[in-house]
Amino acid sequence: MKSPELQQLKEIIQKRKSEILELNDCVAATLSSVNRSNGNKTNGPYDVLIYSENGKKKCKYIKPQYKPFWETKIQNYKRLKELFANWMMLEMKYTQLEFDFQISTKENTMTTSTETINKTRKKQLRQDANYIHIMKYMGSKRELLPDIKEFAKKLLPKGGTILDIFAGTCSVGAYLKNDFTVYSNDIQAYSKVLAGALICSSNHKEPLIFGKMISSLEKYYEKNLKTLEDLFPITLKTSNDFIKIKKDSWTNQQRKEYISFCESFPGPLNNFTSNSKELKQLKEEYFKRASKNDLFPYIQTTFLFSETYFSFHQAMQLDSLRYAIEQTFKTETEKNIALAALMYAHSYCSSGTGHFAMFRDLKTISSAQDVFIYRGKDVFEFFSNKLRELVEFCDFNKKTKHQAISSNYIDLIKSQTMDTVDLVYADPPYSFVHYSRFYHATESLIRYDYNIPEHKGRYRTDRHQSPFCQKQNVEEAFKILIEACARSSCHILLSYADTGMINMERILELLKQNKFSVSIKEINYDHSTMGRSGHKTNKIKEYLIAGKVRDN
Ligand SMILES: C[S@@+](CC[C@H](N)C(=O)[O-])C[C@H]1O[C@@H](n2cnc3c(N)ncnc32)[C@H](O)[C@@H]1O
Repeated sequence: MKSPELQQLKEIIQKRKSEILELNDCVAATLSSVNRSNGNKTNGPYDVLIYSENGKKKCKYIKPQYKPFWETKIQNYKRLKELFANWMMLEMKYTQLEFDFQISTKENTMTTSTETINKTRKKQLRQDANYIHIMKYMGSKRELLPDIKEFAKKLLPKGGTILDIFAGTCSVGAYLKNDFTVYSNDIQAYSKVLAGALICSSNHKEPLIFGKMISSLEKYYEKNLKTLEDLFPITLKTSNDFIKIKKDSWTNQQRKEYISFCESFPGPLNNFTSNSKELKQLKEEYFKRASKNDLFPYIQTTFLFSETYFSFHQAMQLDSLRYAIEQTFKTETEKNIALAALMYAHSYCSSGTGHFAMFRDLKTISSAQDVFIYRGKDVFEFFSNKLRELVEFCDFNKKTKHQAISSNYIDLIKSQTMDTVDLVYADPPYSFVHYSRFYHATESLIRYDYNIPEHKGRYRTDRHQSPFCQKQNVEEAFKILIEACARSSCHILLSYADTGMINMERILELLKQNKFSVSIKEINYDHSTMGRSGHKTNKIKEYLIAGKVRDN
């Protein structure tokens, strides 16, 4: 043992009369007496302490679910296992772990490190030419992009085709598109539009010009907006008067008046009792369009989400931009890029907490004050700023083979598409929350089909229930995915979190059963809880798990 730190550790262990074991690269010891989480002392050997000779600070207690990680991380694991056979039999109950090894075994090359994504990293990404951000999205991997690229390049050193099978905001595909051919897939229609804008736009022959795009859509935007303003002047004025209230002058009385204004709006299902002719007409116009969705003026958001996520005027702006995009742009790429800019405005002007699962209640003055910060945002300005950025971000006339797909992953992995894929990047949902419920308003903005939604949250009735969000189905969902990759001889790169629906041990077992050689990177990550107050982030561990197809 060379380092003073390790020497000191050895002494500490010896003082505790523990068994001690030294191997080439680490020292491990059972602790004869450790504190259990319930405060009782217990006689070991229940726990193990491991320090690496060549690293900095290492080790701690090991949770059972991490066993497979360190099995592959520690050299001479077999010997360690023999010596600690006793310990291996026992259930581990301890919670602390900080692993930071870089150790190889004959079988696998394992690179695992712990890295906390911090503010500097976020700042650097914003200056990265391959990075663009479109919408607030639960589980978005935008801050892990360099790690994903590093792993992808290890698996596919000479480029090749990557299928991002659960692409969401397409942040990963957009970041990798200059190094690989990217197939981007997600079951949600909005994701395909984003893939078209951020990834496949490189095939568009003519470079797009921001000024030209804005000036050609403006007249349609004004036409739709003016028509809506003329149809609903009283409602618009009432809504705008609330926006004029200064942040600190909100009173309880005004808050109550605002709530009853919101409640006077017709919903798709509620018993509409208001005497307002305007609001009656709004409802009638909506239902006319349920069977003919291209009628002028566009009013879907104005009916579905006014005074919930958006002010009356913001909702009209969103509808008017949607109309203008449909009328102005004739090529898919132009349309996709403009719709991506619209999704940005929709996400950032909404007073929701970054998703659309439920609009915020207005129980207190401070919640009303916060909601009205968002009501004051100008949708057109948000749209046009993002459109400018998008046009700069996209490369044109590149003749790539990128693809935008909108399929259920189950169907896609059975299709011929897999024949040309070298690596599947899979970032499935890892909580019980279905994306189709959280982003139904984004889906409707894109599909613009005047659907008749259900529940107070006005969710689409055709929303997809993902097996990855269902405890009873998640294991089978992973199994199907991993087996399909093995069958097609594709490498697999998985993103998953320690808070997932299935434990990491089981995922690793599935990979091993399918003869993948596995590497893992563990990343400490502050996940947004998408709340506006209290704990805004959760500390979780994100894992990048690479399964390399073995050469036969
Ligand atoms: C964790 S998110 C992906 C986030 C993405 N990597 C990003 O950075 O934005 C998971 C995605 O899986 C999609 N999804 C869920 N079930 C699916 C299925 N059966 N087939 C295809 N996509 C699915 C969801 O729509 C969601 O966008």
